Amino acid sequence: MITLFCKNTILAKTAAFALLALFNCSVMAQQKQFSPGQLWPDDKGVHINAHGGGLLYQKGTYYWFGEHKIAGGAGNRAMVGVHCYSSKDLYNWKDQGIALAVSTDTTSDIAKGCILERPKVVYNKKTKKYVMWFHLELLGQSYKAARAGVATSDKVTGPYTFIRSYRPNAGFMPYYPPGTPDADTVNCAQPKNKSEGFFCRDVPGGQMARDMNVFVDDDGKAYHIFSAEENFTLDVAELNDTYTGHTGKFARVYAGHQTEAPAIFKHNGIYYLIGSGTTGWAPNPARWFTAKSIYGLWTYHGNPCKGKGAEITFGGQSTYILPVAGKKDAFIFMADKWTPKNAIDGRYLWLPITFKGDDMEISWFDNWDLKVFDKEK
Ligand code: GAL
Repeated sequence: MITLFCKNTILAKTAAFALLALFNCSVMAQQKQFSPGQLWPDDKGVHINAHGGGLLYQKGTYYWFGEHKIAGGAGNRAMVGVHCYSSKDLYNWKDQGIALAVSTDTTSDIAKGCILERPKVVYNKKTKKYVMWFHLELLGQSYKAARAGVATSDKVTGPYTFIRSYRPNAGFMPYYPPGTPDADTVNCAQPKNKSEGFFCRDVPGGQMARDMNVFVDDDGKAYHIFSAEENFTLDVAELNDTYTGHTGKFARVYAGHQTEAPAIFKHNGIYYLIGSGTTGWAPNPARWFTAKSIYGLWTYHGNPCKGKGAEITFGGQSTYILPVAGKKDAFIFMADKWTPKNAIDGRYLWLPITFKGDDMEISWFDNWDLKVFDKEK
């Protein structure tokens, strides 16, 4: 199927193919499959610019939010903001523009040139607002600030209004799920290791919050999952009723082991968490965990990726896991293949998750489509 995009649709539909260019039209082939790692054109034929992203499904439409990158190394900083796309089928994406713009006011927390990464949007049924969380680093301070930022909008595609940025859970000690070994409880009078030391150092001002995700559970409670303690530990932290702040309840997950890029989903009542190691833009082996409660205890299971390239997550780093609407047991693992020297060229690796009982696996496909989930039954 061919879709026509042009300024004079009636004319275009009747005009000969060769004439289309004369009327300022472009011809976009409908995409019918995922091609991980390849250029992924939007409805205008431009490579999708939504890195470190997340998806939101609303009434038959998927919305993809991600970091808008620009060319060159400077593109790793936020020069534009958070880009939004929409799709009905997950293959073809319509450019919805910039959902959250960085500020030209250099004193703003989200000043142009800051670092604004891994934006995720959730919908709050009570307030009827869309809430965007992201990892924020203040202008000119590299990765020192380690803050969580939040913005809201009445409309899914934005514009989003920035509310605030901060380090979460200042003054709070962790929640310990039943069965937590003594070795994993924090004693700030005598920290046992580096990560505990960082935790205690940060209690007064709030925990560091870098790579992150947001998850809304079946009961409507939302959680912010982020790399804390100089990236040594993941925190799973409860958000308040409006989803715009933290409640102070949080658990430390896989403390001391340096996990980044958390992505989370729930399947058959079990929580699954996928993350990466901490090697910056360079890929490393993914790792996965499961738990019966979102706060844990979390069980570590090693690398979910199988086959050639598994030891470097096929060149990518986890970003989000999408439950496919209307399909059972259908989850897409989404990763970014970063190209830090020319940030805008970063690619997307979307791969299907396969279940074997409660175990999961991720394998490479050059091309695939959603029918893969039907075949597995
Ligand atoms: C990665 C992280 C990215 C970005 C990058 C900077 O490990 O996942 O989101 O922060 O480091 O080096």
